[in-house]
Amino acid sequence: MKIFERSSDLQFFLDNCRNDNKAVSLVPTMGGLHDGHLRLVEKAQSLSGVVVVSIFVNPTQFATGEDFDSYPKTFSNDKFLLEERGIDVLFIPSKDEIYPNGTLSNYDVGEIGRLLCGSSRPKHFNGVAQVVNRLFDIVKPNYSIFGEKDYQQLLIIKSLVENNNLNVSIESVSTQREDDGLAMSTRNKYLSAKDRMKAPLFYQQLNNAKMAIEQGNSIEFVMQKTLSELSVNFEVEYFEVLNANNLTQIATNTAEIIIISAIRLGETRLIDNIVFRRSNV
Ligand code: PAF
Repeated sequence: MKIFERSSDLQFFLDNCRNDNKAVSLVPTMGGLHDGHLRLVEKAQSLSGVVVVSIFVNPTQFATGEDFDSYPKTFSNDKFLLEERGIDVLFIPSKDEIYPNGTLSNYDVGEIGRLLCGSSRPKHFNGVAQVVNRLFDIVKPNYSIFGEKDYQQLLIIKSLVENNNLNVSIESVSTQREDDGLAMSTRNKYLSAKDRMKAPLFYQQLNNAKMAIEQGNSIEFVMQKTLSELSVNFEVEYFEVLNANNLTQIATNTAEIIIISAIRLGETRLIDNIVFRRSNV
């Protein structure tokens, strides 16, 4: 596995790959790799001859007081996992390499960036879009792969690509779960042993909501019931049932549904979602 710290070295290497007619995939990460990331990597390998994984803990997507400084750093394990899977390139840029002109920017991803996670983390998606755009600019990938756990992020990146006519195909991979249903996340490491035992209830309660909707209960009824059940176990930041295509309110004929929520358990913030098709509309 080649490891690059400088964009110019990476670009020189990738230009040669493209001259050999190899397509390039990019899997952007912030490290702290787990099986969820490894599924993204496998998808990338199935799509292209060269796979670049980036590890960069992006300061612009963290607000003051968030976990930028304490974000899990597991570089030697990450490197081992990627080498074991035969990844071609690991890109570990410095902050100056990503933001040569400083981190200030007037990025604004618009209304979709202000909903849900964007209402409690107002600059978060602007920072995500800024770094992803910069990584696309450096790597010029044919494909880039993201997880569906960060569903709002996925839609924002798709719209970034569309609005800027970028020549990259955005691919997604379904949420990977622990055996007890908890969505895999680097931040699960923050959970105390007691909270870790409670955490699977989050997905179970979202799943109960899905089943209740499928059984024909009204969205309003299911939302009220689920919100009060979630509130018994967690501090609920948001819980919504929305149109999965654009995160707007559901109309009577909306078939693609997302149940999406963010909660706090102790000091840890968890997000999860379930996307499904309503058959009874
Ligand atoms: O999902 C993440 O890990 C990050 O938001 C991303 C896409 C790597 C950008 O920093």
